[in-house]
Amino acid sequence: MDVHPRILTEIWDVPDAHKIEVAEAHGRYTAAAKALKMTPKDIVDEVFQSGLRGRGGAGFPTGRKWQFVPPPERRGGKPVYLLCNADESEPGTFKDRFCMWNDPHQLVEGMIISSFALGVRHAYIYLRGEFKYVQDRLDVAIQEAYAKGYLGTNIFGSGYDLDLYTHLGAGAYICGEETALISSLEGVKGQPRLKPPFPAVKGVWDAPTIVNNVETIAVVPWVINNGGAAYKAIGTEKSPGTKLFSCSGHINKPGVYEVPLGYPMMDLLNNECGGVRGGRKLKAIIPGGSSVPVMTVEEVEQANMDYESINAVAGSYLGSGGFIVMDETTDMVEALTNLLRFYAHESCGQCTPCREGCGWMFKILERLCAGEADHEDLDTLKDLADNIHSRTICFFGASAAMPVQSFLQKFGDEFTAKIDAARRIELPPGVSVAK
Ligand SMILES: Cc1cc2nc3c(=O)[nH]c(=O)nc-3n(C[C@H](O)[C@H](O)[C@H](O)COP(=O)(O)O)c2cc1C
Ligand code: SF4
Repeated sequence: MDVHPRILTEIWDVPDAHKIEVAEAHGRYTAAAKALKMTPKDIVDEVFQSGLRGRGGAGFPTGRKWQFVPPPERRGGKPVYLLCNADESEPGTFKDRFCMWNDPHQLVEGMIISSFALGVRHAYIYLRGEFKYVQDRLDVAIQEAYAKGYLGTNIFGSGYDLDLYTHLGAGAYICGEETALISSLEGVKGQPRLKPPFPAVKGVWDAPTIVNNVETIAVVPWVINNGGAAYKAIGTEKSPGTKLFSCSGHINKPGVYEVPLGYPMMDLLNNECGGVRGGRKLKAIIPGGSSVPVMTVEEVEQANMDYESINAVAGSYLGSGGFIVMDETTDMVEALTNLLRFYAHESCGQCTPCREGCGWMFKILERLCAGEADHEDLDTLKDLADNIHSRTICFFGASAAMPVQSFLQKFGDEFTAKIDAARRIELPPGVSVAK
């Protein structure tokens, strides 16, 4: 039984929903037709009223971000660009590829409406390198939209022109960070830049640029068709709407689920995910992708899936909605080591605390797993994490530090026990050591 409103997943079960005639039969492009009769300002206002918050991780209000684009007289003759962030490299997050694969026309329509609202002539969808197969499907959808006159010149007879391009990255996690994504699109090394200036003021080719996540843009047609107030009525006051959660780990039904924000975390685990696999006990959940602090069972039992509740209950974040479930058999030291292997590999290397710190943290964790660490190593590990957070150009440093800090704080006993177990001398039966 489906009791939740389905905004993003509405036609995912429909056969051939990626083809334009099927998508149109289910209402795709009606919102674009409506929007192009509105004024750009009215569209921005509607999105602002909806309370929609960016789904890429930070949860920044989309309407507010759009309002940051300077007026034409303060753009120095530069155009405005819209970049859709389809890099999706955060471990545990796989919702955007489902959006693009199952309903590519929803994203194309969202790009048309958002571009019109922002006064964009050329818009881009930047996909991670591994998404070649998704790019192919998206490119077909874009060609279908051109053929129907929904892209190109004089769209819907409105006089508005838009060209939409897909661009494939080379598979680096850091290119999901918006300023690194901008650099990569420009054709230079995909490394983050200091902010400010923020992309809305100075982005790709130094022009005002709005970067939004796939899920964020895919919601826009629904907001236009149903109104910002209808969207705001779903979810909670501060976290409106529905959200896609990528659910993985020790659960019976891994997959992408759409639920209203504010949905109890235990309900997501038990109803949508079918509970913990094999009837085992729950040990921990990472609620928002690998970068956010881990949560204990006690915290999970109290929290709801929205930006405020997860933070208030557990000091963690909703992030990108990567819901990673760990059962009682999980070795938390090995789990953290696995995460840090990723961060040590993906640091772009610009900032010393991140470049060196991630590598050192990973090496200590490897020693812990091999039974070669001592208690002082735990202090060093914590010290390293504390000294990376907030001392780097981009948020990657914090993203690597927060798992370490939270695993040590909430599951520190397991780290200590691992060291003690490795140091215990096993003596043959009957042999004892005289004191
Ligand atoms: C290391 C790092 C990786 C990121 N990866 C992604 C990503 O893969 N997809 C994404 O949409 N946002 C990612 N972000 C967030 C983007 O920088 C940016 O905030 C987001 O695309 C804005 O879109 P939104 O306002 O719609 O959320 C990442 C941020 C950091 C620091
Ligand atoms: S924090 Fe890490 S990933 Fe971000 S710019 Fe610095 S070195 Fe690169």
